[in-house]
Amino acid sequence: MLKVSNLSAGYGKIKVLFDVNIDVVKDTITAVIGPNGAGKTTLLNSIYGLADIYEGSVLFYGRNIRGLKPHEITSLGIGYVPQTDNIFSGLTVYENLRLAGSTLTKERFSERIREVYELFPKLRELANRRAGTLSGGERRMLAIALALIKDPKLLLLDEVTTDLAPIMVKKVLEKVTELKKRGITILLVEQYAHRALEIADKVYLLASGEIKFAGEPRQLLERKDLLSLYLGI
Ligand SMILES: Nc1ncnc2c1ncn2[C@@H]1O[C@H](COP(=O)(O)OP(=O)(O)OP(=O)(O)O)[C@@H](O)[C@H]1O
Ligand SMILES: [Mg+2]
Repeated sequence: MLKVSNLSAGYGKIKVLFDVNIDVVKDTITAVIGPNGAGKTTLLNSIYGLADIYEGSVLFYGRNIRGLKPHEITSLGIGYVPQTDNIFSGLTVYENLRLAGSTLTKERFSERIREVYELFPKLRELANRRAGTLSGGERRMLAIALALIKDPKLLLLDEVTTDLAPIMVKKVLEKVTELKKRGITILLVEQYAHRALEIADKVYLLASGEIKFAGEPRQLLERKDLLSLYLGI
C-alpha cells in the first residue's frame, strides 16, 4: 500500500533520514520504533509532505506522492495524527471534529461522526466539553478521531501512547487494533517498544536516521543486542 524507497530527508540543510526503505502492507499494523531524535517523526512528515525529501520516493498504491501538499495527501486517503499540537484546546470536542471535517458535505460529516462516535463512545459523551479539559487518554482518542473523520485508508500515528498511564496505553492500542479490523492500515511510530510490538505485524527499528532492523516483532525480541543498544531494554 505504501512503499518508501531509498528515502533521504530532513529540513533544509539538516539531514535526518538516510536511505530509508519501508513497506506497509494493506490491512496490517507496521510499527517504527527507535530512540529520541531517531527521525521517526521526520519519516511520517516525509510521507505527509511536511519535510524536505532529497532522494527517494514515496509510493501510495503505486503513485508517487513525493512533492504533494498535505491536503492533497489527505484527499488520497492518508490520515496523520501528529505527535504534538494535534487538537484545538479552546474548542469543544464536537467543534474539533467539525473543523477537522470541514471539507466534507453535511451528509458525509454526519455519517463520519456517527462512525467515529461508534468507535469512541466516550467522545459522544464529551462532545460539548472543551478539549483542553480532557484527560491525556481522551485527548489522544480525540486526536485519532480528528484524522478518522476524513475516512483514511492509511493512518500515520506518531507516539499516541507516550506519557499515558499503562492502562490507557493498553486502551489506545486496543483501539488501534480495532481500526485495523475495520480495514484501516496503520503505520505506528512509538518510542516505547513493548506494547507496540505486541500489536504490530511488522516492525522497523530506526536509529540515527537509518533502519537498523526490519522484520517480525518476535524476531526483533530475539535481538537482545539491538534492544539494549538502541532501546535500553
Ligand atoms: N523542523 C525541524 N527543523 C530542523 N530540524 C528538525 C526539525 N524537526 C526535527 N528536527 C531534527 O531532526 C532530528 C530527528 O527528529 P525527529 O523529531 O524526527 O525524531 P523522533 O525520532 O521523532 O524523536 P522523538 O522520539 O523525540 O519524537 C532531530 O535531530 C531533530 O532535532
Ligand atoms: Mg517524534
